[in-house]
Amino acid sequence: MRKPVIAGNWKMYKTVGESVQMALALKPLVANASHCEVVIAPVFTALKTVADRLEGSNIKLAAQNCSTEIAEGAHTGEVTTTMLRDVGVSFVIVGHSERRQIYFETDAMVRLKTQSVISAKLTAIVCVGETLAQRDQGIAEKVVSGQLTGGLSGLTASDLDRIIVAYEPVWAIGTGRTATPEQAQEMHAFIRRVFADGHSEKAAQALRILYGGSVKPDNISGLMAQPDIDGALVGGASLEAESFAKIVNYDRKPRKANS
Ligand code: PGA
Repeated sequence: MRKPVIAGNWKMYKTVGESVQMALALKPLVANASHCEVVIAPVFTALKTVADRLEGSNIKLAAQNCSTEIAEGAHTGEVTTTMLRDVGVSFVIVGHSERRQIYFETDAMVRLKTQSVISAKLTAIVCVGETLAQRDQGIAEKVVSGQLTGGLSGLTASDLDRIIVAYEPVWAIGTGRTATPEQAQEMHAFIRRVFADGHSEKAAQALRILYGGSVKPDNISGLMAQPDIDGALVGGASLEAESFAKIVNYDRKPRKANS
């Protein structure tokens, strides 16, 4: 059984005070959510304070990025995964489309970051997804499989336990336009096949694949009913405690049969 993950990506929003306020508001609202892992990703500056204030709760922390370098050193502006673990982080989002598009992150960088996350014994949430132009050209699967093989090559079987994939079609991020549950399911099943071919059927069956892109309280349960959707990476709707809690506590319908 793959335990679902509902993760909130706060992006570049909230001061330390606002982050703490949000985390504390969220805590009681998701306290009974044992059906899934609840993860929030505040900005770097708020991680330590939020971690301290959440101690003993079921909410886990993610960082939104990390250095490609495993070891500390002269890399102005960068943060290692060991430093992130040191402040209480359990997950690191790697290769988000905003980082790929705005900060020119390549698959090679995604691979280095993922390896760094694994070396620090944290879990990487590796983001993949095609743009609208790529979907319209009919190359969505090619793009996603390229990102997966480029970003995740060289991993051993035990490394795979520390990998979560987030499929986030770029055209659905922050646009209010979600992929339909069927569109998302199709790509998730494809990602699982790519994993089975590249690694093993066992690793593919254990892999958690999250959907991201305009996930809201009113579309989460339809997405989660799909057999290959194992959670969500939520941006906009994770910035407010009530709406994120509604997503965490989604209406659990029986999951459709596996494809
Ligand atoms: P969104 O963002 O939910 O605001 O579309 C998702 C993401 O970028 O992870």
